[in-house]
Amino acid sequence: MVEQTIKNEIQKRRTFAIISHPDAGKTTLTEKFLLYGGAINTAGSVKGKATAKYAVSDWMEIEKERGISVTSSVLQFHYNGYCINILDTPGHQDFSEDTYRTLMAADSAVMVIDASKGVEEQTIKLFKVCVMRHIPIFTFINKMDRDAKDSFELLDDIETVLGIHTCPINWPIGSGKQFKGIYDRKAKKVRTFESVATGGLKSAAETDYDLNDPALKELATDELYEQLIEEIELLDGASDPLDMEKVQSGELSPVFFGSALTTFGVETFLKYFLEMTTSPLPRLSNEGSIDPIEHDFSAFVFKIQANMNKAHRDRIAFMRICSGKFEADREVYHVQSKRTLKLSQPQQIMAQDRQVISKAYAGDVIGVFDPGIFAIGDTITLPGSKFEYEGIPTFAPEHFARVIQLNSMKRKQFVKGITQIAQEGAIQIFQEYTAGMAEIIVGVVGVLQFDVLKYRLENEYGCEIRLESLPYAFIRWVGDPSTDVTKLKRMNNVKAVKDMKGNPLLLFVNDWMIRMVLEDNEGLELLEFKKN
Ligand code: G4P
Repeated sequence: MVEQTIKNEIQKRRTFAIISHPDAGKTTLTEKFLLYGGAINTAGSVKGKATAKYAVSDWMEIEKERGISVTSSVLQFHYNGYCINILDTPGHQDFSEDTYRTLMAADSAVMVIDASKGVEEQTIKLFKVCVMRHIPIFTFINKMDRDAKDSFELLDDIETVLGIHTCPINWPIGSGKQFKGIYDRKAKKVRTFESVATGGLKSAAETDYDLNDPALKELATDELYEQLIEEIELLDGASDPLDMEKVQSGELSPVFFGSALTTFGVETFLKYFLEMTTSPLPRLSNEGSIDPIEHDFSAFVFKIQANMNKAHRDRIAFMRICSGKFEADREVYHVQSKRTLKLSQPQQIMAQDRQVISKAYAGDVIGVFDPGIFAIGDTITLPGSKFEYEGIPTFAPEHFARVIQLNSMKRKQFVKGITQIAQEGAIQIFQEYTAGMAEIIVGVVGVLQFDVLKYRLENEYGCEIRLESLPYAFIRWVGDPSTDVTKLKRMNNVKAVKDMKGNPLLLFVNDWMIRMVLEDNEGLELLEFKKN
């Protein structure tokens, strides 16, 4: 029998990631969520650009110098009886593989879209990972207080670019200076918008009207009112019904409109979102599906971060608890190393500080001190259980450079450094096939990681390097690892490399070349993600 408190704790948990293109409003929305939960008192504390107060995730000098957040953090808050974990992903253009991996730890995703822009590049990339995992995706169309694209066009954009069906839960009346409010299709009420400068305020003034209330007609103006009635009819007739099964499998995205900056539509979104998402669901292992409530403690490592404290050269392993209750003084079993151990200094990473914790539940993320034994994708269970969770895929880097070591006397440190950094998962390293030449090619998801690599090799390992940029932008794993890539046809301008495990890969300058190589080599399979 599972203890009732454990069951209650797990059932009230919601763990999700927010995905967006930079500047769509992810940070602003996150801040507003935290305000509702009382986790912070003033907006602007998550990423204190103006106040120069850095979030805990900004740990490296390079980040401080640039004033951006390269790494991800986890924010936990309570709201309406729910315990919510937001897995924050780096907001800057130069995101890294960590951003992708964070999505492996989430049970659902909130996609923030700038209403004046529609679906943007980075959203597409992150969206692909969500689709691969079949997790529910909720859309928040933000910045309605600014001139927006036509709402139907926005839905069409999501459907055609991302290939997911949409179901608007509410519908905007106008946008920009003409933004009058939002019609809630379920409650059949209009919430009117009044622009107020919010700062630390919890919400803008909001008033609810029935659709046929004469006061609403007056407020919205005849033209916008007529338009709303027409659009509601159109939606009721033409849009997909809210099929929760399709939402759960990530085929249909419930869509909300609002303005995070003025806190309009944020609480409505949060309420519906919490109702529609589920508590942690079973996860697949090599021994079948592991139930989060029925099964005792288990977790998997989805991120490793080195040198959070420079003086100690420490590494923190972030793990997502998948089942049961974690207790700090209990012994756990690390499946990959076959070792029983106690997780040292377990901590929860909050918006502004890091707290040592004694217990946590399925759905939560904890960071533990890593003596160098954990790798991304590892499973932690209790002694006696030996199952392994499905591995975390390796995602395709998009930028490549040849690493040239400037001081050949330090070859050993260089190899050690670059291998360790690669193990943490911020970069991927490859070797060319050319006989005898141990030349290293490094691949990254975001170009900032090149600077991070250079900085860390110099500062932590005393190795100076030069990076020579390579023209490749696409990498594909060869489906059958026993393929002799040196015998493939149409390989001019295509580079064959192998990863540290010896798996063959091909580097391409453009995706047209990928098609050519596939066409000319019958039976060849090329993969975008490498399942581990
Ligand atoms: P991000 O994390 O997705 O990168 O976006 P962030 O929240 O930092 O927002 C990017 C910019 O868009 C910010 O302005 C923010 O104030 C603004 N913004 C966010 N939501 C809304 C909204 O609903 N309406 C309007 N009008 N603006 C919004 P900034 O000037 O770049 O930064 P800041 O100086 O205000 O922090």
